[in-house]
Amino acid sequence: MSDRLALEGGRPAAHRPIPISKPLIGEEEADAVREVVLSGNLREGRRARELESRLAAYIGVKHGVAVNSGTSSLLAAYMAALERGTEVVMPAFTFVATASAAALAGLKPVFADIRLDTYEMDLEDAAARMSPRTSALVLVNLYGLPGDARAYRRLADERGVRLVIDSAQALGALVDGREAGAYGDLSCYSFYPSKNITTGEGGLVATDDDELADRVRLIKDHGQRGPYVHEVLGLNLRMGEMEAAIGLVQLSKLERMIEARRRNAERIARGLSGIPGLHLPVEPQGRRHTYNLFTVRIDPELYRVDRDRIVEAIRAEGVDARVYYPVPLHMQPAFGRRGTGDVKLPNSELAAKTVFSLPSHPALSDQDVEDVIAATTKVLDAYLKR
Ligand SMILES: Cc1ncc(COP(=O)(O)O)c(C=O)c1O
Repeated sequence: MSDRLALEGGRPAAHRPIPISKPLIGEEEADAVREVVLSGNLREGRRARELESRLAAYIGVKHGVAVNSGTSSLLAAYMAALERGTEVVMPAFTFVATASAAALAGLKPVFADIRLDTYEMDLEDAAARMSPRTSALVLVNLYGLPGDARAYRRLADERGVRLVIDSAQALGALVDGREAGAYGDLSCYSFYPSKNITTGEGGLVATDDDELADRVRLIKDHGQRGPYVHEVLGLNLRMGEMEAAIGLVQLSKLERMIEARRRNAERIARGLSGIPGLHLPVEPQGRRHTYNLFTVRIDPELYRVDRDRIVEAIRAEGVDARVYYPVPLHMQPAFGRRGTGDVKLPNSELAAKTVFSLPSHPALSDQDVEDVIAATTKVLDAYLKR
């Protein structure tokens, strides 16, 4: 059989591919940017302050500090809260910035394995990897699903370490009705165009702690409290006013966009249910998944080809399926490929070989959702062992 399984009776090529993510932006965001440009003041200002206070209120914490990316939010949070040279226990199966920002802040990432149902760090494995040098646990809310924040909060408190939550993909994810990031000492968000809201590039550090908020504010602006007096080492991680203006419009649409993601995900899950060897996303009791990505996993022994061939075939059907993430961090050259030596994290390694993501973003039409289901079903059916 050919790899290219052309969809019979498919839609015109002009509609394809259906992108893995697409921000819902338009006239309102354009007007907001125009207003900033015409004001002549592009520097971080009153719109950034307003975005910070609105996001802090939405998240349910005292402080929001706007920065210029999710990566910057992690870097500033790590620099503000943790002592250089200490260890931070984090999942190996996440986007690189969770760990690279820690390493760049002088910390040592210690990689723990994940659970295969929710893709969050495995609590027991994380606990086992803590040492007297551990200063923090990092919970990553992957794909928009909140991890078990209460359990991580308890573990961090018992061991006297910080809890940092990487909620880059999960603004609006809830645990028992409360924003998932609010369980952390610090939580970090990204507003990259694929995220739950976008500012283009942008991010936020959220915290209830006055001192930590003050330190993050200093770090994001060269460590200066007054003009050219530098209290601590910092960087320029500031958010610009155009980005903040876009963020304010986006935030006003956030709940509607999450509802659309959840509706799309529910329909896709229904459409794909019953396919042998296919694990659909789960939503544990008490948690609200925001479906930043609709990520599935295959049982490789039930298919005649590997995951990469399946993804390629779905893409040939006009659906931009993608893999997040094909190489776990303990096996990355940047972290010394420790996984090729003594560290073995079997679930992270299996997930990296068997997951793929489908679009569930709010810009999908009803027909797009049908097409995502049809393309995926067709490819999996064609490659299923019989
Ligand atoms: C889990 C996670 N952490 C951190 C980041 C970094 O965010 P940004 O791309 O805004 O720097 C991302 C973004 O892709 C992410 O998915």
